[in-house]
Amino acid sequence: MKRFKKIRFIWALVVLLISLWQSKTAGAQVFAPTGYPDRLVLTLTAEPATSQVVTWRTDTAVPTAKAQLKQEDASPAMEEGFLEFAAETLPFMGEEGRKDHYHRVTFTELKPATVYAYRVGDGTHWSEWCQFRTADTNGSTSPFTFIYLGDGQNDLKSRWSRAIRQAFRQQPDARFIVHAGDLINRANSDSEWGEWHYGAGFIHSMIPAVPTPGNHEHFRDEQERLTLDPHWNTQFALPANGPQGFNEVYYVDYQNVRIISLNSQFIMLDEAAQELQLRWLEDVLKDNPQQWTFVAMHHPVYSTSKKRDNPPLRERFKPLFDRYGVDLVMQGHDHTYARGKGPDAAANGPVYLLSVAGPKMYDSDSDRWMDVSLVDTQLYQTIHITGNKLVFKAYKVSGELFDTFELSK
Ligand SMILES: [Fe+2]
Repeated sequence: MKRFKKIRFIWALVVLLISLWQSKTAGAQVFAPTGYPDRLVLTLTAEPATSQVVTWRTDTAVPTAKAQLKQEDASPAMEEGFLEFAAETLPFMGEEGRKDHYHRVTFTELKPATVYAYRVGDGTHWSEWCQFRTADTNGSTSPFTFIYLGDGQNDLKSRWSRAIRQAFRQQPDARFIVHAGDLINRANSDSEWGEWHYGAGFIHSMIPAVPTPGNHEHFRDEQERLTLDPHWNTQFALPANGPQGFNEVYYVDYQNVRIISLNSQFIMLDEAAQELQLRWLEDVLKDNPQQWTFVAMHHPVYSTSKKRDNPPLRERFKPLFDRYGVDLVMQGHDHTYARGKGPDAAANGPVYLLSVAGPKMYDSDSDRWMDVSLVDTQLYQTIHITGNKLVFKAYKVSGELFDTFELSK
């Protein structure tokens, strides 16, 4: 009788575990890799005028991979005159427990302001030929535009995809796309990253991503340590010029612009990491020959919710933004739109931007620090730089222009 009870208990436990697993994965589409490259993502290197890095994914039947590159001359004879680059291959296992391979190649010795075509594969299974354009030389004032997107986070395939695709339709020659954190909802969920890559389609095989992580890209490991989703540094090849141990913290000089990514989740929750980023940021701002300086970080300096507040950003980071003349701070997290210089703006202080690309929406009920605000609307933004002039435009995903302003130096 006792033994029967024990078996019944074990069986009940098994049923419970199976139902828990099913509820966790219910409706989640599996995005399994094959021998063919997928999830192609370009990211900016520290020298975007002369180099470009790409990462992609395959199954583990592809042990080594490579990329082919040629300057785009519009000839269909793609098999002639290309250069070949061997890939670095990283084995990867997400929380779903499947083994994948991620590969990366950095194309070097490129010509500035030039269109290249490339493809990636193992020699048998190839991607299509994709194009990218190198930046003009560092410090160049030749005009360019980039896109800034707020949180994606939820329903990436179903509803966020409209934001990035309409942004691409609006600005197909954008030189990069800033993602201001919370790209996904559950850290290390491969199916959510699958939706993100599906939503972005081929866009990031042509236009580099400039991602900064949010709270939802972090989890606590078994020792309760705050940990960044391992997908991040596997699929985004970032410039490795951040503080020790924080590869997601970096800066890129693109023509006459310096763009800086901070990890605001670590700033909020880890005092040592906050100090480290603060000191690094001061160095990066102090020694900065660029005409324009932009910061991308997930948590806002000024919230749009009366229930939310991020004092370390206001008390410790804002003084640096003011002192060193940061022009724009691109943020997310509050799931609304807001734009303004804030209640105690320095003359030299930045314009604080807050936006949302995905479908999750919050109230905007904080003190009215902003000049412009909006709720319940999915948006995307374009930023045009022409020498010493900047034109910012925020669009609803319908394509309707909602907000615009200009800055000049
Ligand atoms: Fe967030």
